[in-house]
Amino acid sequence: MIEHLLPAAVRGSELFVHPADPAAEAELYPVEREQIARSVPKRRSEYAGARACARAAMAALGIDPAPLPKGPGGGPQWPGGVVGSITHTEGYRAAAVAFSLGVRAVGVDAERHGPLPPGVLRTVALPAERDWLEAVGAGDDPRGRDRPAGMDGVHWDRLLFSAKETTYKAWHPLTGRWLGFEDAHITVTPGPAVGAAPAGEFVSRLLVPGHTRTGDALTEIRGRWIVDRGFVVTAAVVM
Ligand SMILES: CC(C)(COP(=O)(O)OP(=O)(O)OC[C@H]1O[C@@H](n2cnc3c(N)ncnc32)[C@H](O)[C@@H]1OP(=O)(O)O)[C@@H](O)C(=O)NCCC(=O)NCCS
Repeated sequence: MIEHLLPAAVRGSELFVHPADPAAEAELYPVEREQIARSVPKRRSEYAGARACARAAMAALGIDPAPLPKGPGGGPQWPGGVVGSITHTEGYRAAAVAFSLGVRAVGVDAERHGPLPPGVLRTVALPAERDWLEAVGAGDDPRGRDRPAGMDGVHWDRLLFSAKETTYKAWHPLTGRWLGFEDAHITVTPGPAVGAAPAGEFVSRLLVPGHTRTGDALTEIRGRWIVDRGFVVTAAVVM
């Protein structure tokens, strides 16, 4: 799935995980194993699986395997000259990686494809985004998990949420600053499906000053999305 979301300069890797699968912890570096030594098995599994994906994506670029501990900003600490992003959700792990010479930042997010719990939209969607969701049949609804998918069989509210998380993962390493759900206006465009999987693009227009650590302006972050195999996956790349 993830390869459909990335330009040639960015390599992706993903894992579909069954709950009974053994965790990929054996492949962790000591510094990584130490970070999750006291975590529950579910956390250890997602941490290890996502890092296995990251190292597979690095290998596709010809980058030697390296430890990817969680850094002080929350994201993985990539080797010098490398940018990337990882995600994990129940049953799925993924990563996208690039050389920083050609790509400034990457964000990826995966979610189970289903409606957001009732009430969540109020905290994550702008009024204009909620108007759009109403129009595509995915407005806030007390039926919650029983709500059917909207237009084209997509839970657009979940897609919006994922696009916001992906935006944050690309934004934060570039700026070092917090970005709230109210600080980016997402516009989703359905594009050609990938086989039977709905897919398309999105633009996150930043509503706060987006100066990066190097001082240049960042006004929007662009990305792609796909809904397939029970997941919504979004990816954003800042060139
Ligand atoms: C950080 C956040 C985006 C993670 O998303 P999530 O759906 O909870 O979890 P995912 O499994 O998709 O991603 C988890 C990975 O995100 C990465 N991550 C965490 N903080 C990060 C940051 N500041 N920058 C980049 N990546 C980050 C980590 O690598 C983490 O995996 P790890 O803990 O195994 O190292 C989310 O928890 C959050 O804080 N969101 C609020 C900010 C936001 O989304 N604003 C909207 C702006 S429009």
